[in-house]
Amino acid sequence: MSRSTVARIDLDALRNNYRTACERAGSAKAMAVVKADGYGHGIAPIASALADVAPKYAVACIEEARAIRSAGLAQPVVLLQGVHAADDLADCVRHNFEPVLHGERQLDWLEQGGYAPYIWLKVNTGMNRLGFRPKELPAVMARIAQMGTGTQVLGFVSHYACADDAGSAMTATQTAAFEAATSFWPALMKSVGNSAAHFISGQPLFDWSRPGIMLYGGSPIVGKTGPELGLEPVMTLEAPLITTREVNAGESVGYGGAWVAEHDTRMGMVAIGYGDGYPRHAGTDTPAAVGGRRIRLIGRVSMDMLAVDLSNAPEAREGDPVELWGRTVGVDEVASCAGTISYELLTGITSRVPRISC
Ligand SMILES: Cc1ncc(COP(=O)(O)O)c(C=O)c1O
Repeated sequence: MSRSTVARIDLDALRNNYRTACERAGSAKAMAVVKADGYGHGIAPIASALADVAPKYAVACIEEARAIRSAGLAQPVVLLQGVHAADDLADCVRHNFEPVLHGERQLDWLEQGGYAPYIWLKVNTGMNRLGFRPKELPAVMARIAQMGTGTQVLGFVSHYACADDAGSAMTATQTAAFEAATSFWPALMKSVGNSAAHFISGQPLFDWSRPGIMLYGGSPIVGKTGPELGLEPVMTLEAPLITTREVNAGESVGYGGAWVAEHDTRMGMVAIGYGDGYPRHAGTDTPAAVGGRRIRLIGRVSMDMLAVDLSNAPEAREGDPVELWGRTVGVDEVASCAGTISYELLTGITSRVPRISC
């Protein structure tokens, strides 16, 4: 019998969330963003579960695209960071990967004998991470045409810096810069919006949206949870209660004696810790649940376990599964208690935790 700390992956919830993305995307198509191992859920089962509905996938790097092909899936895969080496262009030809080229070095590789049938160009509209500046685009397009290799520019990609903030003025500035920069090539496709753009007006989705976190049920908007946006949690992170005990008023629990019982308290230890990717910064009062009842963490999270106050769940027994996040406790809630975002929590679950699709 092995440790029953698991991440249960609800593939129906995933498909429902993808359907929500498509409904909200209107006339735009939605490329399913499955990078970072499907946001920590497992890229192969996630991509496979969307295979009959998603016309394209998007990943960060070619290793992730290869994992999609290894799963036997044939849809085009967009490489959001393009290629990291000239040699990788050969795989783009072989496997129908669509690199998003963002800089001169990648153009050099294309020019120096490399070839990719289909590419996208990243436009830097103000985020200043990657991409060509709008004024550079005409020269870049001319350079690609002069290569004479038949490489086809499918379209233009950009990314919002403040997509999660409905009140940000930067979004409109970026949209205007993108529309102006790409207006010379009206027949080419455009893609800017990620999950937030499916919920916030003023973030046009153009031809292709790129939903990521919303597929997994996490919220892309500050101050809202996924369920509040009609999204279903895909991952339920669960670990067993491995002991229960009474601590007396005045006794402390765990490293640093960081939590001290104000009164006699029934508590339990749960077999999950930061070695599993549960955030160490989730402090006392971070919610969890057992038997459908909400309980709270107490003290510091250890590498392999954490402590919970069972006052609110008197019927809880050793061996019972504790939900760290899922349907009773939202991952967005836990993220907020840990001072981070659901993206980091979901992608941070380590390989020690088996993912079980259901
Ligand atoms: C370029 C790009 N597009 C789309 C996404 C998906 O974003 P989200 O998960 O907020 O939907 C990301 C995520 O980091 C990204 O980097």
